[in-house]
Amino acid sequence: MIEIAASLQAANPLDIAAELTSIEGLVDRLHLDIMDGHMVPNLALSTDLVRAIPDTWQRDLHLMVEKPDVVAEWLDLRAGDTLYFHPYAISSPEKLVSSLTDRGVIPGFAINLEYDLPANFATLALVDHFLVMGITPGFSGKHMDEKTTSRIQWLRERFPQATIAVDGGVNDKNALNLIRVGANILVVGSYLFSTADRKVAIDHIRDISL
Ligand code: DX5
Ligand code: ZN
Repeated sequence: MIEIAASLQAANPLDIAAELTSIEGLVDRLHLDIMDGHMVPNLALSTDLVRAIPDTWQRDLHLMVEKPDVVAEWLDLRAGDTLYFHPYAISSPEKLVSSLTDRGVIPGFAINLEYDLPANFATLALVDHFLVMGITPGFSGKHMDEKTTSRIQWLRERFPQATIAVDGGVNDKNALNLIRVGANILVVGSYLFSTADRKVAIDHIRDISL
């Protein structure tokens, strides 16, 4: 089954509560980008905001920070959260993977466009959740790089049971192709939050995914 995650970075920052209400019951997951301005060229979503998200939401935490093991401790991790981090951000990704697993948090790797997949096969095999970036992370509202589909396909062929999310530039035009090559979570930011009628936008993506 294909799931849809809403990326809160693209929501109206002056009206987060109303934005959450507008997508409640429509999307399957809430995607929360945390950026430190070093790992990526932007600052995003405060740890206070992330902690305040009601636990009725399925949280997918996307850490674009230099010390994901340190920042993870500021998020009040809950069993059932998924936490994606960039494996090269830390000297022992396996340690963070196992400490997250021990507390019931699902570890996943965020994979930038320039991350060499074949060269890092052994590292990738530490997890079975991937967040494939369609853009260079930092800002929402950018176009997806054409390499994204072949990178999803590469992962899907080698990890047939994995959960593969795709993040950055997802819209109604590319969704079907992303699903065909193996994505099973679509992260939507500006596609969703730039439309007045969120239900129409999500129904449209779901129709495509069927
Ligand atoms: C970008 C973030 C994405 C972004 C998605 O660095 O990781 O989650 O908010 O927004 P869109 O869908 O507009 O690219
Ligand atoms: Zn993200």
